[in-house]
Amino acid sequence: CFEVLAAKSGVRVQVGADETITAALARVGVKVTVSCEQGICGTCVVDLLEGDPDHRDEYLTNDERSEQIALCCSRAKSPLLVVDL
Ligand code: FES
Repeated sequence: CFEVLAAKSGVRVQVGADETITAALARVGVKVTVSCEQGICGTCVVDLLEGDPDHRDEYLTNDERSEQIALCCSRAKSPLLVVDL
């Protein structure tokens, strides 16, 4: 498990082992627009402000991976990710 903080919304949520970040955020009222939900289209990409992501998408380039994250499928290696939402 890890936590995600939606910085602009001021909402923090725990992401369960069987749950996506988008599903966890939806539980606490932070809506992320998704489309493919498989890490291919980039619809769910947001800016990453803090934390060590475990990228599981096929969309972002290596350069983009340091500052963005695809929320439909990626996870975290650090206990907390802070995203620009
Ligand atoms: Fe398509 Fe996340 S919804 S990459």
